[in-house]
Amino acid sequence: MDVLRIRGGNALKGEISVGGAKNACLPLLAATLLTDEPCVLRNVPELSDSRFMRQILEHQGAEIEPAGANAWRICAREIHPKTPYELVRKMRASICVMGALVGRLKQAEIPLPGGCVIGPRPIDLHIKGLRKLGCEIENRAGSMLIDASKSRGGYIFLGGRYGSTVTGTANILMAAVLTPGTTRIDSAACEPEILDLCEMLVKMGARISGIGSPTLKIRGVAKLHGCEHSVIPDRIEAGTLLLCGAITHGDITVRGAKTEHLGAFLDKLEEAGVPCENVDEDAIRVRGDLAGTFKPVDIVTLPHPGFPTDLQAQFTAMLALTPGISIVTERIYPGRFMHVPELQRMGAEIAIEGPSAIAKGVSALSGAPVMASDLRASAALVLAGLAAGGETWVQRIYHLDRGYEKFEEKLAALGADIVRLPESELPAEFSGGD
Ligand code: EPU
Repeated sequence: MDVLRIRGGNALKGEISVGGAKNACLPLLAATLLTDEPCVLRNVPELSDSRFMRQILEHQGAEIEPAGANAWRICAREIHPKTPYELVRKMRASICVMGALVGRLKQAEIPLPGGCVIGPRPIDLHIKGLRKLGCEIENRAGSMLIDASKSRGGYIFLGGRYGSTVTGTANILMAAVLTPGTTRIDSAACEPEILDLCEMLVKMGARISGIGSPTLKIRGVAKLHGCEHSVIPDRIEAGTLLLCGAITHGDITVRGAKTEHLGAFLDKLEEAGVPCENVDEDAIRVRGDLAGTFKPVDIVTLPHPGFPTDLQAQFTAMLALTPGISIVTERIYPGRFMHVPELQRMGAEIAIEGPSAIAKGVSALSGAPVMASDLRASAALVLAGLAAGGETWVQRIYHLDRGYEKFEEKLAALGADIVRLPESELPAEFSGGD
């Protein structure tokens, strides 16, 4: 296992590009199972999650070969319906092959994924949606046996107590595009990653209207064909990099950052006193150097276009250094605050009250050995390390590698003092924990 050593204090400067969006790429890869014709997917990010999804597709029978830089040619000529627990257990998002298998094969056998460190993460809405399509679903020994041979489409309300579901919407869409009849989904997720999926499905011959809205109407077709598609840029990586510019009082331009993907986030950055400007329609420049002292803000995470939960931990790292009181409330994953105890080790004053983190900004953080617990918490610790005095050692960075492409290389190119080292380089007094 590698670790990151960060020597904080450098103001980041320069221009950097984001990679393809992890959370768009995973369902897009699953969608290639919907056709026996080849698909070419471009701008596939080099992440452990993409490689893992590749293993799942190959397990289902797809053949995958490179088609140029960051491009994969995928041909799922013949596939089979069963996905083993070892694969689903390692990556929760593997559940998004379920809708594709149901659509294409009219049957699937897929294990229930279980919870994860950010919360319980049930899939009751996915199951409800498939039942409304007409699927029969039996739970046997921890797996769902799905029979879609009689499914005929229908009306599906997909909202739950935390709002819409992103991978649930992806699953129902993928099942519905090859289901006879008409399906209407209300309270569909409106995240840009769902739009991207709809756009690829339409290229494959799917008939979907209402794209981008919470009401999607799908007219099932008998067959889909191959297509070429490019994954949208990663808005969460973009937001994280903008925060790196802000927290270090630097000046960086993030190419691939799109205002329409980041509206609520940019609004809060501006409210915190950090100027951002559109360089062109594909790039945003953050002027942390002009920000002075940050202003406290209150944040509530919500489904898109609200403030994204996947940028909550990173923004909290900046609020730890913002004088005054800021309140961050999680409405998607009420317990997603594993970064807070680690930030406290660096000197942050943050209290957790139910689904809220209350940050009383301190004037400085101090470097410390810290432990990453999930993908976005890891990014928050890197952000804190960039701004802290002294050395921060981030352990368990395999979490970071799931969703950030060459993160430390990008930050080093912007002037950060950050290196990836083998765990053996960790100072002896910091190692040995669990
Ligand atoms: N929920 C239910 N029932 C369901 C499905 C979801 O109650 O059947 C709840 C969840 O427990 C959660 C809320 O609804 O409280 C939203 O969950 P959603 O289904 O939208 O999450 P997801 O699709 O499993 C995706 C991203 C997450 C991101 C969330 C929210 C992917 C692969 N994952 O998860 O990304 O946090 O949407 O935007 O797209 C990350 O990238 O770090 C990450 C965790």
